[in-house]
Amino acid sequence: MKGVILAGGLGSRLRPLTLVTNKHLLPVYDRPMIYYPIQCLLNAGISEILIVTGGEHAGDFLKLLKNGKQLGIRHLEDAYQEGEGGIADALKLAEDFADGGKICVILGDNIIEKNIRQASGDFFTHSSGGKILLKEVEDPQRFGVAKLVDGKIVEIIEKPQDPPSNLAVTGIYFYDNDVFKVCQTLEPSKRGELEITDVNNYYLKRGDLTHEVLEGWWTDAGTFESLFRASTLVAEGGANKAG
Ligand code: DAU
Repeated sequence: MKGVILAGGLGSRLRPLTLVTNKHLLPVYDRPMIYYPIQCLLNAGISEILIVTGGEHAGDFLKLLKNGKQLGIRHLEDAYQEGEGGIADALKLAEDFADGGKICVILGDNIIEKNIRQASGDFFTHSSGGKILLKEVEDPQRFGVAKLVDGKIVEIIEKPQDPPSNLAVTGIYFYDNDVFKVCQTLEPSKRGELEITDVNNYYLKRGDLTHEVLEGWWTDAGTFESLFRASTLVAEGGANKAG
């Protein structure tokens, strides 16, 4: 089982903090942000990990993580994304690492309270296609949002002005190896990015996308409000955290 952490992008919503280091190395309570997705993968039994990063401060990852052994990572690789072409653009860089197999992908700014061991185990042993994890949120406009009819997802809409539900698509995804072919078919969205939501809608149209609702709290940490919220949740309740 292999895991990919997407920690590229320029973190422009967190300037000036991100002028001096990468967004994913900023503190979330008592750990650097990247420790949380790492521990999320490790807790699911995934210890072969690729981190895709970018920007001017990518070298800071090496100083922090070294070869990853001290955190329990069996095999750590990295890849460098030029520019900020979107989540699916960053994912393209994982093709060689995936080596024909299935992958679990997690965004570098996503933090969860509990674990994804069951969802991950089910996907790796039984499923093909794609699988997403949903979570009820109070501010769905900020996320990819699932539109459901009779309990089935019929569409995922990225940052809808008028959300069809309060179920956000979290930044934890499971894909079979077709995902790299899917990424090649994508066109940039209005915000100029290759969208992971387009990847998920592709699998959905193919009848090959399953979902689960995540247990426990979930947050991103890519804005000042959500970074503060993440630190508070971790301080109050603990989370998946390495080190
Ligand atoms: O957090 C979940 C949400 O993440 C999903 O609900 C959305 O569907 C998905 O599009 C994404 O939304 P955001 O607008 O919050 O994504 P953001 O641009 O903040 O990027 C999230 C992480 O993805 C970031 O911490 C690192 C990685 N990333 C992002 C971009 C734009 C990359 O690795 N490369 C990139 O070019």
